[in-house]
Amino acid sequence: MEMIQVKQRFGIVGNSPMLNNALETAIKVAPTDMNVLILGDSGVGKESFSKIIHQLSARKHAPFIAVNCGAIPEGTIDSELFGHEKGAFTGATDKRKGYFETVNGGTIFLDEVGELPLGTQARLLRILENGEFIKVGSSAVQKTDVRVVCATNRDLLERSRQGKFREDLYYRLATVPLRVPKLAERKEDIALLFRKFSSDFAETHRTKALDLTPEAQTLICDYPWPGNVRQLKNVTEQICVLEEGGTITAQTIAKYLPPVEPSLPMLLGKQENYGDGLSERDIFYKVLLDLRRDVNDLKKVVFGLLDGTQTQTSVNPTPVSSSSNPAAGLQISPSADTMKHTAIPPTVDAPVIIKHNPSENQEVEHEYIEAESYPATEDNLSLEEKEIEMIRKALDKNKGRRKKAAEALGISERTLYRKIKQYELE
Ligand SMILES: Nc1ncnc2c1ncn2[C@@H]1O[C@H](COP(=O)(O)OP(=O)(O)O)[C@@H](O)[C@H]1O
Ligand SMILES: [Mg+2]
Repeated sequence: MEMIQVKQRFGIVGNSPMLNNALETAIKVAPTDMNVLILGDSGVGKESFSKIIHQLSARKHAPFIAVNCGAIPEGTIDSELFGHEKGAFTGATDKRKGYFETVNGGTIFLDEVGELPLGTQARLLRILENGEFIKVGSSAVQKTDVRVVCATNRDLLERSRQGKFREDLYYRLATVPLRVPKLAERKEDIALLFRKFSSDFAETHRTKALDLTPEAQTLICDYPWPGNVRQLKNVTEQICVLEEGGTITAQTIAKYLPPVEPSLPMLLGKQENYGDGLSERDIFYKVLLDLRRDVNDLKKVVFGLLDGTQTQTSVNPTPVSSSSNPAAGLQISPSADTMKHTAIPPTVDAPVIIKHNPSENQEVEHEYIEAESYPATEDNLSLEEKEIEMIRKALDKNKGRRKKAAEALGISERTLYRKIKQYELE
């Protein structure tokens, strides 16, 4: 199938060389029965690629299941994937088939495969080598014929050096690696995606179509989009629902773009000790401080932008020195106080996503927890006001239905509930 047809059929928007490269690889590898390892950050479209691979394969009429390995508790993952016998463990009142049995003939997508426990990795390796598996609590060897497509946003070789990922499994899975680029690596696609999403959402929500001023275009193209296409999609939907349509200015867009932070867990996971007697704890504080600085810089840019005193070109924050060398330039001694003033990105706890129907789309929510006691500067106050205004608007538009309002805002109902309490919006 031609690339252009694939794009149309699967709603893939973009024309950057890196995206086209990835698509080309997917199209080539799909009809073979090879394992594919899809690499890329969260929200870049890894799952979309897994569906394309399944749909363009001889297995397209057989089942497809997406399993988020990072969201299944360690204690149950073997049973979920491979099934169990009655009485295999407390609570196993019946025998149960695992996904590898129910998907026989089809494709299984193992998202966040780097999170699999070592025991499960051994079972997976056996399936990949000879199609054999054993239910938990059983001794009978069963056979299955499943194509395995995996995805990860981690460096699996690094994980294997740490003893957390089997090297032999890595080489098995990575027969064909397929890297999906970050949105920041394909800036030329951002405006296209925005246009596509805004026309889609205008249709679903029956709102007016959106149009961007040139400044607004530059702003979205320069923003680093840490949540990638998923974030762009969510932001576009919010704007569609919360703004009245028509021409959207940079000022309006800026309200919807959260400050960007470096990835903490990646950094901390690297080494126990960074030399110079720095503990992980020191590094942690350093990262928090850098983060705070970045947030402040970004705020300056955004508010400068709102005042029209600064151009959008400087939205990209300066790279955090700690990401290349965590020990470089650590000057400030940590105090417990620093923690309170910094927004801490939590690791995202994605829900288990299991899909039998590949056309169904379930979004994983990204939520940023803000520390409650951010110092009250004018900037914060006006940000707070904006948040309150957005929440009010969303609640009004949805006639007070919190579930719908939370969806429109792209936050969980729980967060909305907390914010309503916090701002006394009841
Ligand atoms: N190139 C693209 N064009 C249009 N939509 C896309 C594209 N890439 C991703 N999406 C959409 O972005 C969202 C996130 O994609 P997904 O495949 O779930 O990302 P990942 O698995 O990498 O986290 C989905 O709603 C998906 O449909
Ligand atoms: Mg995903």
